[in-house]
Amino acid sequence: MSAASTASVLQEIPVDLGDRSYPITIGAGLLADASTWERVPQASQGLIVTNTTVASLYAERLERAIASRHAAVHRVELPDGESHKNWQTLNLIFDALLQHGCDRKTVLYALGGGVVGDMAGFAAASYMRGVPFIQVPTTLLAQVDSSVGGKTGINHPLGKNMIGAFYQPALVVCDIETLSTLPPREFSAGLAEVIKYGPIADAGLLDWIEANVESLMRRETAALAHAVRRSCEIKAWVVGQDERESGLRAILNFGHTFGHAIEAGLGYGEWLHGEAVGCGMVMAMHLSHRLGLVDISWVERMTALLRRAGLPTVGPQLGPDRYLELMRIDKKAEAGQIKFVVIDRPGSASLRSAPDALVREVIDQCCRPG
Ligand code: NAD
Ligand code: GLY
Repeated sequence: MSAASTASVLQEIPVDLGDRSYPITIGAGLLADASTWERVPQASQGLIVTNTTVASLYAERLERAIASRHAAVHRVELPDGESHKNWQTLNLIFDALLQHGCDRKTVLYALGGGVVGDMAGFAAASYMRGVPFIQVPTTLLAQVDSSVGGKTGINHPLGKNMIGAFYQPALVVCDIETLSTLPPREFSAGLAEVIKYGPIADAGLLDWIEANVESLMRRETAALAHAVRRSCEIKAWVVGQDERESGLRAILNFGHTFGHAIEAGLGYGEWLHGEAVGCGMVMAMHLSHRLGLVDISWVERMTALLRRAGLPTVGPQLGPDRYLELMRIDKKAEAGQIKFVVIDRPGSASLRSAPDALVREVIDQCCRPG
C-alpha cells in the first residue's frame, strides 16, 4: 500500500536515457515524506553519504524516512569542502561499505551539495563495479545542475574533476525546504547556474528570473520550485540528447572556461564555483559580443541580473597570460586550442575558438586592475 504524500508543490521530470532513465522529484518536504522513497530499489542495506555540516541538519530525517526500505541504514560523514574531494575522502566511503559488509544491491544516498554528490556517485560507480545510488541534493547548485546527468568524480592536485565516471543515479530527490538553511553566498552561487540556462537554452527563463529575482533571493517556495523545475527540465533535455558530452552537452559549461581559470588562478575555495561561473558568464557574453553574435544590451542585461543575484561581475586581475595558460588545461580544449561556449543569440549557444587577441581584450575589460 502506498503512503499518501505529505510534501507540497510536487513535480516530476523524467530523464530519458533508455534503460538508465530516472525521475527527478521536486517538492517541499520530500525528505521526511515516506512516499518519496517507495521507488527505491529493494536492498537489505542503505548507506547515506553526507558531510559533517549536512549530517547535523538532515541525516536523521532521511534515516527515519528510509528506515522501512532497508534492514539496516548506515551513515558515513565526510569532511566538508572542495579541498576534500579527493582519493583519501573517497576511500572513507569504500571503508564504510566494506566494514558493513555491503553487497552489490546496497543503495547509496548522496545527501548534500555537489561535492558529496560527485563523490558518492563515483563510489557507487566503482564499488563492486556499480551499485545503485540516489541523489538527494541540498544546495541550489546541486538541485539545478550537479545531481542530474551522471557526471561523478573527484579532483586531482593537477586538475579539477579530472578523475571520474559517467554514472546515472536511480532517482533524484530535490527537497526545496533544505535550501532554507543554505548560507547566502552558497545560495547566490547556485543562482548563477539557474541564470545560466536562460542565455544557453531559454530566453524566456531569463525574463522570468529578472521578474522574480527578489522572490528567489527571499527563497519563496513557489519561485524556487519553478526555478528548480525549469532548470532540471533543460538539463534533462540536454543530457537526454548527449549523455557523454560529444557535442551539445558542452553548452552547459557556459561561463565555465573563464570561471575555472578564476577558481584555479585564485586557489580553489577563494571564490565559490558558482561565483566564478557567474563572472565567467559576463566574460563569455562580452566575447560573444566581440565576435559579433549578440548586442551589447544583452551583455548589460546579464551583468545587471547577476549583480542583483548577489554575484561578483568583475574578475580578479590574474593577467591575460595566466588566464590563457589556465584555460588551455580546460577539458574542452583540443590540441591546446581553447574552446568557449558563446551565445549565438539569446537562448542558443555553441562551442567556438576565438583569437587570443580578442580574449585578451575581454580579460582586460572585465577584470579589476591589479
Ligand atoms: P558543496 O557541495 O561544497 O556545498 C556547499 C556548502 O554548503 C558546503 O559547505 C555544504 O556542507 C553546505 N551545505 C550543503 N547543503 C546545505 C544546506 N541545505 N544547508 C546548509 N549548508 C549546506 O558545493 P556545491 O556548490 O553544492 O557543489 C559544488 C561542486 O559540484 C563542485 O565540486 C563542482 O565541481 C561540482 N559540480 C558537479 C557537476 C556535475 O554535473 N556533476 C555540475 C556542477 C558542479
Ligand atoms: N554541469 C555540466 C554538465 O553536467 O555537463
